[in-house]
Formats: sequence, structure tokens, C-alpha cells
Amino acid sequence: MVSHRVLCWDCGAVIEDPFVSVCPKCKGLLTVKMDLEKVKEKSPEDLRKTPIGVWRYSDFMPVDASKKVSIQEGGTPLYDTKALAEIVGVKGMHVKFEGLNPTGSFKDRGMTIGVTRAKELGAEIVGCASTGNTSASLAAYAAKAGMKCAVFLPSGKVAAGKLAQALFYGAKVLSIDGNFDDALALARKMSEQKKLYLLNSINPYRPEGQKSVLFEIMDQLNYNIPDRIVLPVGNAANIWAVYKALTELEEVGWIDRMPMLTGIQAEGSAPVARAFDEEKKDFIPVENPETIATAIRIGNPVSGRKALAAIYNTGGYSETVSDEEIIAAQKLTARKEGVFVEPASAASVAGIIKLRNMGIIDRDETVVAICTGNGLKDPETAVKYSNPPIKCANSVEAVNKILSD
Ligand code: F0G
Repeated sequence: MVSHRVLCWDCGAVIEDPFVSVCPKCKGLLTVKMDLEKVKEKSPEDLRKTPIGVWRYSDFMPVDASKKVSIQEGGTPLYDTKALAEIVGVKGMHVKFEGLNPTGSFKDRGMTIGVTRAKELGAEIVGCASTGNTSASLAAYAAKAGMKCAVFLPSGKVAAGKLAQALFYGAKVLSIDGNFDDALALARKMSEQKKLYLLNSINPYRPEGQKSVLFEIMDQLNYNIPDRIVLPVGNAANIWAVYKALTELEEVGWIDRMPMLTGIQAEGSAPVARAFDEEKKDFIPVENPETIATAIRIGNPVSGRKALAAIYNTGGYSETVSDEEIIAAQKLTARKEGVFVEPASAASVAGIIKLRNMGIIDRDETVVAICTGNGLKDPETAVKYSNPPIKCANSVEAVNKILSD
């Protein structure tokens, strides 16, 4: 295992108790400091002997790879989306399609590391609050590891595919009267009472696995650094994970500059984008967050301050998009590229369109949109915003008539 320490991101204290989610001294956020001395002697080429996926990058992961709990996560395609690039009006655009992970979202990258860690610690019950994807992923990895799992979901606000997954993988699915922020507060209480090992992204091991999306993008682009990487922001850990991966690549000398990290939020759930607009390092929580993109329907993002640091430190940007812009971008991505992403994931494409129109994204830029989840996760929204199936009699004439319209 690569040696590492868990530190408080705020006060720098070394954290000894592996079961806490915040600093016992200052209540600050936690982070993992990897010892990368040995990696400095390697090159990206050395890692390519192992298949692409999270575990190709085990030199950057704080768990024992020989004891991994894995369902072959990562290794998702990076599409060269030329049609989108032309419509948006940029030099180059790629879509990293995280919907092709084992449970259909990027969460599997963090969960393989998080559940491997839980197993190392001998945890009996793992748990998380979730807008859906985290719960689907944790339920799957807990099943694979043979652990009990409890997931805390905001009642009535989880997309059908995600709920079906959590139920079917055999988790105890708790439907909480409240929104995601309320469900997370309850899950955190349970973990503070040591009733479960918390695997929300406040757990510093989760973002460690999520770093791998950036390692893969760099690998797939042969280390031609894109100008900008754009992500949807909800609980705000993923953009931070991408930033942490960049700092580590810089530390080992594999890159010498960073793409501008750009975080997109839904208009009705945008504490990070608002803070960015006001040039603040901290955010004010949004009461009663609302958006069609239920995955990012979050008013009090746990890693909001880390996300803002990631954006400021890379000269990036943060912006909001409306639900209409999200659906339009979701359709565009499906219909021009054949890539069906869920609404939250389409926020990154919608953000690119908006920022290009605003002149924030330049015509000369090469951009990567991280599309975090599969469109099949939320069939109800997709059906609602599509034309209904065409009623057709069982005859060649009837079909011919429809096709000629
Ligand atoms: N995209 C999708 C599809 C997500 O499910 C999430 C978060 C995000 C983007 C935002 O990532 O929270 O790291 O900023 N989903 C969490 C969940 C909250 O419970 O599944 P983030």
C-alpha cells in the first residue's frame, strides 16, 4: 500500500481515528496526503502495463490493491465529440462518459476505494445519504464485499433507476422525510455514534478513487492537457477530487500546468456558483434546493469550500444553468453524439454552451465535459421531455405514412 496520512484540510492536524469524518479539533474537512516519492521515478508509460481503470493508478491510491473490492470500475470512454464542438464553437471538445461505469455513474470510482478501506477497517455496516447514485454504487460494492449497507434517501426525490438499483443490490433503503441535506445530517449522526461507516464523499478515501477520472482523461489525451474541464457540482467533492489529482500529477512531474476547472450548478441549487459570483471562499447554504437534475439537488454541499478552492486555484469558473438548458443539452448530447447522459451530467454540456455564449470560454479552447451518469438512471424525465411513441396500426401502409411525414 502507498503510505499516506489523513490530515485536516483546514488546520493541518494529523487524524488518527479512522472512523471520524471531520477534524476532532476544529470540525474541518479531511484530506489524504499521499507519499508520492516512489512515483516520481515512474512515468505514465509505466502504469500502462495495467488495463485502464481505477486500479491502473493504485500508486496514487491509499488502500491495499491486493485486497481490492472491485467490479471493474473506470476505463470509461473519452469521446471526441466533434459535432458538439462545432455546435458550441470551440476548437475541441471531449465527453468523458462516466455513465458506463458498473453501476452507471462516476461514484463507482470512489466506492471501490471507500469499500476497500471499510473492509480493511473491519467495518460491519456501511452507509451513506444520497440523491441516488452514491446509494446505488455503495449498495453494489457492499454486496460484492459481503457487508451490510444502509442508504438514506430524500423521500420521493430519487430517480427510478437509482432507487431500483439500491433496492435490488439488497441495501436497507431508508426513505427520509426531507431533502438530501437532511438525509446526510442523519447519516452523519449514525456514523458519529459509530453505528455505521460513512461512505459519503466527506470520507476522505472516496475522493481518492474519484481522482482516477482525471488520470484517465490525461492518459486518453496522451498528456495533451486540455484548456478546461467542466463538471456538474452537487455535494462538491468530485471537482475537488479532479483538482487533487492535478496537484499530484504536478507533484510527480507529469504535468506542468492545470486545466481551468469549471463547476456547473443548477439554478435552484447553486450555493457554490453564487459564492464564486461574489468572489467568496465560502458559500451560504440554499434552503429548499430545487432542480430537475435531482442528482445535484443539494443546498449545503459538504465539500463546497474545497470546490471553490479547486476553481480559484486553477483560474476556473462557476456558473448556473436552468432546467430548460439542462434538458436541451441532454437532448443535444444524445442526438448529436449518441450519448445518453442523465440530467445532472448534461449540466456540464449546458454550462459549456452558456459560457461560450458569454465569452468566458474562448473559441480556441479545448474542453472536456465530464458526464457523470447514465441517462437510463432517470427514465421518467427522459420520457416526460420526449415526444410520446407514435400510435401505429399493424400495417405496412400505416408505417409508410408515418415515415413519409
Ligand atoms: N453528477 C451526478 C450524476 C451525481 O450523482 C452527482 C452527485 C454529481 C454529479 C455531483 O457530484 O456531489 O461530487 O459534486 N451525486 C451524489 C449522490 C450527491 O448522492 O449520488 P459531487
